[in-house]
Amino acid sequence: MTTKTIHVELSKSKKEKPNTDQLEFGRVFTDHMFIADYVEGKGWTDHRIVPYQPLALDPAAIVFHYGQTVFEGLKAYMSTDGKVRLFRPDENMKRLNKSSDRISMPPFNEELALKALEKLITIDKEWIPTAEGTSLYIRPFIVATEPYLGVAPSKTYQFIIILSPVGSYYKEGIHPVKILVENEYVRAVAGGTGTAKTAGNYASGLKAQEVAAEKGYSQVLWLDGVERKYIEEVGAMNVFFKIKGEVITPVLSGSILEGVTRKSVIQLLEHWDVPVTERKISMQEIYEAHQKGELEEAFGTGTAAVISPIGEFNWKDEKLVVNEGKTGELSKKLYDELTGIQTGKNEDPFDWVVEVE
Ligand code: COI
Repeated sequence: MTTKTIHVELSKSKKEKPNTDQLEFGRVFTDHMFIADYVEGKGWTDHRIVPYQPLALDPAAIVFHYGQTVFEGLKAYMSTDGKVRLFRPDENMKRLNKSSDRISMPPFNEELALKALEKLITIDKEWIPTAEGTSLYIRPFIVATEPYLGVAPSKTYQFIIILSPVGSYYKEGIHPVKILVENEYVRAVAGGTGTAKTAGNYASGLKAQEVAAEKGYSQVLWLDGVERKYIEEVGAMNVFFKIKGEVITPVLSGSILEGVTRKSVIQLLEHWDVPVTERKISMQEIYEAHQKGELEEAFGTGTAAVISPIGEFNWKDEKLVVNEGKTGELSKKLYDELTGIQTGKNEDPFDWVVEVE
């Protein structure tokens, strides 16, 4: 049990809340934030909830120069009975520490992180949107704050949690997105930081994403960094394919993000007795399945994206339209079941949901 006290300083004024019908992803933030400081030798101290505000960091802070920072993404939902529900928050806190370890950052007590999160959400509860497809997105992150230009792990950090009421991640909503298969740039290789949720992985993907956007594609599909052959993941989601009734997703190869939604989808499919396999899968195999009319569905999974049907892949200038560009039956069923569990509409046979007291 953790006994740390979390001090609370409430904001003197409340910001205007956005119209929940027009919510985008990650543009507005609530009235408060959580912060804790770390100093080598002392550990994490000064746990506090304060009014949402800019940070004052030294321009030499290590995070600005060498990118020593990790983050997480999870969501809170307001269910129809007025209870606030978190989806598998323990998985996110565990992954946060795994990511931290990969880039030489100190762990944060997972139980305390959850306690801080629950307290923050309770204070900003009225920011949780209730319209269909909306939620309160939670962004915990840790930044290296020591002012030092030598390349070394920081001796000081801040752990921060901010909250953002969000709509769907893609402007398409739950309608199918178009994805460009990336043949030039790569995201990660085994032994690198691909499995960690660290900023550099996302920064290195921006160029490819920009090129894809110019061509009218929402995101890129990354191939493996060695042979440019095997499918890894999409910019902000893991990826699944349904071929002749079997669901296939790339196996966690050491360079793919271990998505919480990915894991939940696999568990749901197994629960439904839908054949699901984690294995290496090449883009050539997807191409051939498409040519033979066997590629039935494709979808991405992620906290932000939930289940995002994929209506088209562009591989080497050839367009592979999936399921006539429409949302597949299984993608829709997974979306409904997952969001049903998250919002409290459906039973939660796996005990995934944590209610905020
Ligand atoms: C999430 O799904 O929460 C993510 O972290 C993806 C993100 C980069 C928007």
